[in-house]
Parts: sequence; structure tokens; C-alpha cells
Amino acid sequence: MAIDPDKVHEFVNKAVGDLGAAIGAALVVIGDKLGLYRGLKEGPATSEELAERTGTAERYVREWLAAQAAAGYVSYDAEAGRYFLTEEQAECLTNEESPACVLGGFQSMVSAVRTSPKVMDAFRTGKGVGWHEHEPDLFLGTERFFRPGYNANLVSSWIPSLEGVRERLEAGATVADVGCGHGASTIILAKAFPKSKFRGFDYHRPSVEAASERARQAGLGDRVRFDVASAKDYPGEYDLVAFFDCLHDMGDPVGAAVHVRESLKPEGTWMLVEPFAGDRVEDNLNPLGRIFYSASTLICCPASLSQEVGAALGAQAGETRMREVMNRAGFRHFRRATETPFNLVFEIRP
Ligand SMILES: C[S@@+](CC[C@H](N)C(=O)[O-])C[C@H]1O[C@@H](n2cnc3c(N)ncnc32)[C@H](O)[C@@H]1O
Repeated sequence: MAIDPDKVHEFVNKAVGDLGAAIGAALVVIGDKLGLYRGLKEGPATSEELAERTGTAERYVREWLAAQAAAGYVSYDAEAGRYFLTEEQAECLTNEESPACVLGGFQSMVSAVRTSPKVMDAFRTGKGVGWHEHEPDLFLGTERFFRPGYNANLVSSWIPSLEGVRERLEAGATVADVGCGHGASTIILAKAFPKSKFRGFDYHRPSVEAASERARQAGLGDRVRFDVASAKDYPGEYDLVAFFDCLHDMGDPVGAAVHVRESLKPEGTWMLVEPFAGDRVEDNLNPLGRIFYSASTLICCPASLSQEVGAALGAQAGETRMREVMNRAGFRHFRRATETPFNLVFEIRP
């Protein structure tokens, strides 16, 4: 069959955009870590002025600014010879608390790219690459990537979508946040529900230490505690167990679900938050699915394959596969409580 030159042209055009995005990702991380975006937010600047403001070398900053302007990540006033951030660029590139902030996403994804040779080896052997085998930028980037979304949705929309849960938290409940990472979700909940007690568990010790430090800084006292434990052996009995973006990373999701059932008090609820996905591959062939499937290839599936069972549900498992996990674990109640463009939220009870 003859090649259609227009389709080749279309493909190459798309790949040119993608190549710019791929190499530009490292520039975003540099701009974030060296304070270049924050420096530019102070006001329009030439490369000399921005270098002066940020204590960086002008020749590098000049090239970085031009690349960023070509990407549309900063703006350029050619007449004045100065670069600046629009309000919208500043929101996405300097406001850590905004749901539109993209810095954590770039930090975690560039980190995953740096670890990709380990994953490439694993393609050959079928072995896993554990969460703990990644760089600290993945852990911090994930926290920064997810926290604004939890801030925007968790207390105002996800908790109220679960039957009777807000009332119990307001009255004083015990809560476990399993696979808590740096504890962003735990701390948001603890601040919102001062009569409740929270325990965060994660198998990754450095993440548990970071979470403990965050809780200390937030002044939450002994209402919040973080410990190293796996999803299959964390201690205690709870009114609410929460898993945020982590069940699919686990080797044995059914085993974890069985343990959740055992750890719930009578009338207790499990809130399961997973990445947004349709059930079929073809439902997820869109820009978000591209990000999730890629992260799943480099991070989530290898993490699951590094643990016992190695179910590797993947970050695009979808509702039907989650329901199967819950059925196998003996849960009878499973409901999609709510969703956002990025997440599915399930309410699960025995
Ligand atoms: C994508 S991160 C999500 C972290 C956190 N829940 C958040 O939303 O920011 C997945 C987390 O699951 C944890 N994890 C993976 N397998 C686990 C297991 N079997 N038991 C406990 N935690 C686990 C990892 O250490 C990691 O912190």
C-alpha cells in the first residue's frame, strides 16, 4: 500500500510538538527548582535581570527564556526585550496551591524518565521496579502534583459523596489513610475534622518520615500519626479507610482489600480514589489516558510487579476491574460515589 504523504506530514507535525514537550520538561523542572518562574513573577525581566534576581548565570537564563517563550510557558515583549508571565502562566507555574499548578507533574515525570533504564531492563526480565527504587523527586513531585486536587475536592466534594461519612468525621471518627505517601490527603482531612483521629500508613519509610514532618509543621499533635506498614498488615480498626491513587500500585490489591474489610468497624466505609479511566483501552485513548498509561508503564505496573502476587492492575484499571477486586475480597457494596476529570471515587462497604 502507498504511504499517504499527508498522514506522514501530520504524524511528523505531532511528533515535533511532542519532542519539544519531551525536552522542555527538563527546562520546566530547572525553572521550578532555580526559582526562575517565581523570579519572573516579580515583574517583566531581561535575561540579565532575571539572572540577577535568581542568582543564576545569564547565558543559561537567556537560552531558557527563549525556549520557554517558544513553548508558551512564558511571554515575550519583543519591543521591550523583556520576558514576563501572564496571570494564567503564573497561576500554573508558581501557585503551588492551585489545582492548575503543573510543577509537581513535571517533577515526577522527569524523575520517572530518569529511572526508565531500570524499567527497560524489567521489560526483558518481567521483574518489578519498586516505588522505593525511584528518586526522591518522584515522591515529592507526586505530593505536589496531587495535593492541589485533594485540596480542591476532598473535603468539599469527595467526603460528602459518601453516605454518612462527613457526619461521622465531624462527630469524631478514626481514619486510616493507606499508601499515604507524603500524607497530603491525611493532613487535609485532619485539618478539616478536628474531632477525628488519623493514622497514615505506607511501606516506604522515607515517605512516612516526610509525612510525619508535614504533620509536625501543621501542628496537628497526636491526632495524626504516620507509620511504616503495608496495606496488608497495618494495625487498628477504623470508621473510614482511605486509599488515594495507590491500590493499583500494590502487588496484591485483593489481599489489601481483604485486610481493609477486616480493619473496618461495623458500618465503616472504604473510600477508594483511583485515576479516572474507562473500562476499555479505547475509552482512554486521549491526552489524559496518554499520561496515565505512560506513568503506569514507568511507575505503577513496575511497582506492583515488584511486590507479592504482582497483579499490576495499571493506572487505567477502571470501574469494572475495581469491582471485581472488591467482589473477590468479599465486599458486597461498591458504588462510584463521584468523579472528577482526573479521579474516580468509590464507596465500598462489607
Ligand atoms: C502514587 S503514590 C500515592 C501516594 C499518596 N496516597 C498520594 O495520593 O499522594 C503510591 C503510594 O503507595 C505506596 N505503596 C505501594 N505499595 C504499597 C503497599 N503494598 N502497602 C502500602 N503502601 C504502598 C507507595 O509507597 C506510594 O507512597
